[in-house]
Amino acid sequence: MTTYLLSDTSLDDIYFAGSLLKAGEVVAIPTETVYGLAAVLKTEAVEKIFKAKGRPADNPLIVHVSNEEEAELYAHVNSRVAKALMNRFWPGPLTLVLPKKNTVPDIVTAGLDTVAIRCPSHQRAREIIRAAGGALAAPSANRSGSISPTTAGHVYDDMNGHIAGIVNGGMCKVGVESTVIDLTGARPRLLRPGFVTAEDLRILLGQIEIDEAVTKPVGADEAVRAPGMKYKHYAPKTPLTILAGPPEYAASFLWAQPGKNVVICFELELLFFEVPSAEEGIIVEKPVGELIVLNYGKENEPETLMRNLYSYLHKADMLKPDHIYARIPETKGGGAAVANRLLKAAGFEVIDPLDYICENIGYGEDIISL
Ligand code: TXA
Ligand code: MG
Repeated sequence: MTTYLLSDTSLDDIYFAGSLLKAGEVVAIPTETVYGLAAVLKTEAVEKIFKAKGRPADNPLIVHVSNEEEAELYAHVNSRVAKALMNRFWPGPLTLVLPKKNTVPDIVTAGLDTVAIRCPSHQRAREIIRAAGGALAAPSANRSGSISPTTAGHVYDDMNGHIAGIVNGGMCKVGVESTVIDLTGARPRLLRPGFVTAEDLRILLGQIEIDEAVTKPVGADEAVRAPGMKYKHYAPKTPLTILAGPPEYAASFLWAQPGKNVVICFELELLFFEVPSAEEGIIVEKPVGELIVLNYGKENEPETLMRNLYSYLHKADMLKPDHIYARIPETKGGGAAVANRLLKAAGFEVIDPLDYICENIGYGEDIISL
């Protein structure tokens, strides 16, 4: 299949993307979070998303709307909490799980009686939704399980030849998927952390629950609130391990590793890895093996870390190392989203250099406390 390469700076291209979507085709579109693999809410169109992604049929998709009123066509939005969240965070990177209306085909929600819905703040994304004649189902535009795309190039690598079009909108500003909050239980429950943080939500809602799957691995046969949580996610092709502990210990650990390794670290740690300040992508000479150091931002600037995270995982993978190690930030505020994605990408494998000789340490509350 020919994949049309379109640009979000051309109105003609926006309308063309709209007409492909109207015809039941799948088109990758930019959003503020990550690129989405979009189709109109018709069974045959949505089937093509699952096929292009290789996504398990029990993992539901997010419905994207261009305004709050449109959300009411697909979900019951009468609760005060839902209204307050939409008012405060829409358009933007917050997805609400609400009771669904039967205007949403079962394939979109994987048969659930709830629907995940969001209105992106990316203006071109909203224009494409309107050009397509209404709401679009869209998961992230990567093959199931692999790293989410934050540039059109990432989408091209995974999807060229498998979908009808890719609309290039440059690099995504947020860089990690939307925050998902479930409003269908007794209390609001955070299913996936993102740019809108647990702290932001608590200011508006008071207490919220944090789903276990945010901080802990979930077995394939366990029941979970967000079915997507049980699958391996965001993972590079190269084995990835989280490296905990103080930077000087992390540096000595890496120093001793044979083979070709990449470490994704914070800007202020570069000196520990013997890289001159602010430089990156440097190959460090060491007695055994090779170490390539990538810096994805300052630890106390989680918004930068979020924006860079996936493109640095892509970069690290392209270097074809034997192993990738990554440093995770504190889980305050936006750091929670970065830590969540990295831990899932690493299959929750964490090494503390202080005791890695004995055994990998756990992924306990000391490492992830939201
Ligand atoms: O930022 C985003 O949300 C991006 C862009 C494209 O908008 N989309 C995205 O979609 O991340 P996806 O399919 O990769 O992730 C959707 C997540 C999955 O974990 C899925 O299980 C969960 O939302 N989800 C979808 N519908 C749900 C529902 N009815 N109840 C609970 N979880 C749901
Ligand atoms: Mg995804």
